[in-house]
Amino acid sequence: MAIRNIVKEGDPVLNKICRPVEKFDNRLAVLLDDMYETMKSGDGVGLAAPQVGILRRVFIIDIGEGVTEFVNPKIESTRGTQEGSEGCLSCPGEFGITVRPMYVTVTAQNRYGDQFSVNAEGLYAKAICHENDHLDGILFKEHVIRKIEPHEFDEQ
Ligand code: CO
Repeated sequence: MAIRNIVKEGDPVLNKICRPVEKFDNRLAVLLDDMYETMKSGDGVGLAAPQVGILRRVFIIDIGEGVTEFVNPKIESTRGTQEGSEGCLSCPGEFGITVRPMYVTVTAQNRYGDQFSVNAEGLYAKAICHENDHLDGILFKEHVIRKIEPHEFDEQ
């Protein structure tokens, strides 16, 4: 495994639409392993493939309950709203209050191509929305209703 360079805001790669994964091969496994190590090194709860320069529909999330890998994810439904703080490893030092769905149902494939479904709520739902946006070239700032200082940030 290796820590990859995290692409920062301003790099056009973060504004592109990612393509679906077609091959569930060792290359994908290495990407996912590297993304995990990169996310952990940056103290993040999620990371999307374009953040390491790979324009494929892949993200990972670990809100402290173990990592889940989402390949070719699709948000099937959302419900409710939550307001809370948010940041992004591609926008270091910048934080804001966003409004996101409280509940999200997402289907995706794992690294072997098997389909699965997740019903997420709270921080998990927020992270899924944040990472899924990255796959369509959208940064969390587009959802910020109020900027906050770093010390006001909490992962809720
Ligand atoms: Co992000």
